[in-house]
Amino acid sequence: MNTIQIKDKKFALSIPETEILATVRRVAEDINRDLADTNPLFICILNGAFMFAGDLMKIVNFPCEITFIKLSSYDGLYTTGTVKEIIGLNESVVGRTVVVVEDIVDTGITMERILGSLRAKGAKEIKIATFLQKPDALQRDITVDYVAMKIPNNFIVGYGLDYDGYGRNLKDIYTVVD
Ligand code: IMP
Ligand code: MG
Repeated sequence: MNTIQIKDKKFALSIPETEILATVRRVAEDINRDLADTNPLFICILNGAFMFAGDLMKIVNFPCEITFIKLSSYDGLYTTGTVKEIIGLNESVVGRTVVVVEDIVDTGITMERILGSLRAKGAKEIKIATFLQKPDALQRDITVDYVAMKIPNNFIVGYGLDYDGYGRNLKDIYTVVD
């Protein structure tokens, strides 16, 4: 089945699981090569990044810590522009290399907020690993260190990303059609 319905919207299959996993593996191997000696703290941004973080961290092969923070900016199909922190960071990042693990960098507003907060908390070095990026939607000066895939500026669901709370469990990525 290549088309699905979630609530009032139809979505068409756009990135199959095999392709997703191949790009995640490439990112993990880049991280293994670059960060093995840094004892990093990986910070997974909930909810959207849970699947990417799960697959990524199974391939990361050096000593590291993983933690989670929860932010929210979307309401249905549109970003609200304000980012709410729902679960905060418990670990100290002072003097540490941290890797922010995100599902998607869209406008960059969420990432800008996270970077500001981690810098203020004293992180030594901040790397960004995102599953997806929509380069055409970027509104902030954000440099992403690791990106699995760049996609056009269309709304997508699956592999952790949702439409109004649904679709996160899909193993493939679907794009809205109407
Ligand atoms: P930003 O602050 O505009 O960069 O938005 C980042 C957040 O918006 C991501 O972490 C996602 O949770 C959400 N988001 C952005 N684009 C999409 C999309 O196409 N589908 C579902 N969620 C999205
Ligand atoms: Mg997110």
